Amino acid sequence: MTKGLAIIATPRNDGNSEIAAKIILDAAGFEHKSIINLYDLNLKPCTACYRCLFEEGCVIDDDVIWVLKKIDKADGLIFVSNTYFMGINGMWKLFLDRMLLLGQYKNIIGTPVALLSVSGIKGWEGLTLSSLAAIAFTMKLNVRSKTDFIATLPGEIENQREHLINLGKVLSGEMENEYTYDEFCNFCGSNCFKLARGTAICAICGKPHKSGKPIIAASWTEHGDWLREKKNEFLAKRKELMIIHNRFGKLKYRIKPVC
Ligand SMILES: Cc1cc2nc3c(=O)[nH]c(=O)nc-3n(C[C@H](O)[C@H](O)[C@H](O)COP(=O)(O)O)c2cc1C
Repeated sequence: MTKGLAIIATPRNDGNSEIAAKIILDAAGFEHKSIINLYDLNLKPCTACYRCLFEEGCVIDDDVIWVLKKIDKADGLIFVSNTYFMGINGMWKLFLDRMLLLGQYKNIIGTPVALLSVSGIKGWEGLTLSSLAAIAFTMKLNVRSKTDFIATLPGEIENQREHLINLGKVLSGEMENEYTYDEFCNFCGSNCFKLARGTAICAICGKPHKSGKPIIAASWTEHGDWLREKKNEFLAKRKELMIIHNRFGKLKYRIKPVC
């Protein structure tokens, strides 16, 4: 049975993200269709323990593993984020920050995905689609489409039903992707460039727009080796680092509300 899974993050029931996901899931013809709204889950922030990189599992007891298992079993994925303050929805970022765990879910690699940003105002889409592209790049997914949708009022995305249906067909492989996109980085797929070193470089991977190498590691094996090296360096320098830690620990500037 083919399984299609959409991941959305919105406080609205049947808002634009959810309607878009439903239309694409139906059009792609999956036999089993599910939508996970990250707002429905118990998601906690990463605690930066790095244990998941070198050992199995995650020490945090929440729903992230449940989501990863669902993604691992999916034949096709749809990632939708609405735009909040020129960027990705905060729940998506919370989820993304836990993705050091990904190395433990090899099936995810190469799964086809449709990426959609849903924004309320033309020109205010900001970094949303670029952030979704970065997520897909990190997960090594097979990006079949990436689209910025404008839908201001809840439900308005229905007006773009035909486009959404086509994206479903592109996701299932029934149709070639005929849509053209703004120029994007040919290494990581982001469409966000910043000015640096006298040229436009990709804001995600640092690759110069026209030619050149990305700044970030070209392969995950290379990045894994670097992380292992850093872990050993940390163990060797632990005492030195503890001295700095204790020095700053004496400055009690942090405040929080008292219940
Ligand atoms: C807190 C908040 C911030 C928003 N910021 C932006 C923005 O920066 N740019 C934009 O185009 N739309 C913005 N919007 C509009 C939503 O992206 C838009 O209404 C979208 O259709 C919501 O999708 P949903 O119905 O799936 O939640 C914002 C909405 C909210 C509630």
